[in-house]
Amino acid sequence: MGNRVGVVGAGYVGLTSAACLAHLGHHVVCVDNDEAKIAALRAGTVPIVEPDLPELVREGLAENRLFFTSDPGALHECEVVLLCLPTPMGAAGTADLGVVEDALETLTGVLPPECVLVTKSTVPVGTAARIPALFGLPAVVSNPEFLREGHAVHDFLHPDRVLIGADERDHEAADRVAALYAGTGAPVLRSDTASAELAKYASNAFLAVKLSFVNTLAELCEQVGADITKVTDAMGMDDRIGPAFLAPGPGWGGSCLPKDTRALLRAAEASGVDFAMVRDALRANDHQHAMVMRKIRRAVTGTVDGSLSGTRIGVLGLAFKAGTGDLRDSPAVAIARQLSHHDAEVTAYDPCVREAGAPALDGIRVVDDPYLVAKRAGAIVILTEWPEFRSLDWTRLAADVDRAVIVDTRNLLDERLLTGTGFTLLGTGTPGPQ
Ligand code: UGA
Repeated sequence: MGNRVGVVGAGYVGLTSAACLAHLGHHVVCVDNDEAKIAALRAGTVPIVEPDLPELVREGLAENRLFFTSDPGALHECEVVLLCLPTPMGAAGTADLGVVEDALETLTGVLPPECVLVTKSTVPVGTAARIPALFGLPAVVSNPEFLREGHAVHDFLHPDRVLIGADERDHEAADRVAALYAGTGAPVLRSDTASAELAKYASNAFLAVKLSFVNTLAELCEQVGADITKVTDAMGMDDRIGPAFLAPGPGWGGSCLPKDTRALLRAAEASGVDFAMVRDALRANDHQHAMVMRKIRRAVTGTVDGSLSGTRIGVLGLAFKAGTGDLRDSPAVAIARQLSHHDAEVTAYDPCVREAGAPALDGIRVVDDPYLVAKRAGAIVILTEWPEFRSLDWTRLAADVDRAVIVDTRNLLDERLLTGTGFTLLGTGTPGPQ
């Protein structure tokens, strides 16, 4: 027998949580103030690219376990309500809680007194403890999400852990939240609210530190003639390090890692703690963009500061990583923009970004056909690791370029794929031409 669950916010976290909880047998009401989005969802149309999500939404609708509405009053019978709202980066790098606070105002008077309110949004340490007194709302439990875009449904249904932070006096509320996940069989970890909130920031910032370490290591590999792939293969086989998050790239991005890493740094500063390695990870990430720009300049002009003016650059990939159409804080977009600002003529293709719907990107021309990026290009630059780029007809692309050079920031291609095409491949942290 499922619980009656409310979800506030139909973004990728809210929608995934709502659809997966319905799939696990709960009765879910998902509220969002975007009426057009609600109408689309009611019709079974999912506005984001997320594998398996449309199927789960349609399953929930068909089985009458999933309801979408713009009326918060519909939450009045819910036993548990999950807040899944954006907490974007606000002034000075701290999280902006404006949307969450507005929602809390609205929920006052709607939620029944015995309802358990759950913060799933990433919120500063201390938020869950403050809400009950500030808004006169019932028990607040912190249950941060660890969903990766592009794998959100899988991560929800097969989590490494479910983290539930609650005050000791709220242990029954915590039990009720834990019961929502019973169908996943995942280990449940209990803590106080502050530890759960901090664990979320710490996890994302730790991943960011790991990635900046690898990106700088790749730079060192290029200098000493080592191969980053061999180095990280060896590192990753150590259980204490693990093989994940060891692939170098154009820098880490997306709507979470940069924001949460900055927020952790600001929280540390505000508490008088010098979290130097987190600061350095952020700096190294900016440096990574500069490294890619230098590599492109050298590939095109022969020197790291040569002019790109008038040079055509073909860009493959705009999303912040493969498997999503999300351009927020995308290193690919940042680098394409920098190229454009340096007067290169940038033509970009991404399987999830259509020419017609593409946002204005500082003069970057978005095309629907990957082969168009090669036309008279001085270099092709791979910025997102879409696997389908491996199967492009590289001989056909080579026939159209002015200069047959590929800057592969993701080490997606290998020499074998390019044999006989005439392309020179410049990888990241790999031996060979740089
Ligand atoms: C991240 C975390 O991985 C999730 O656990 C977390 O729940 C989520 O943020 C969130 O806070 O909501 P996501 O933003 O989807 O998930 O992106 P990641 O898969 O973590 O990738 C972040 C960036 O690191 C991307 O730009 C990606 O290309 C880059 N990356 C990742 C690499 O450059 N190399 C790697 O080996 C892995």
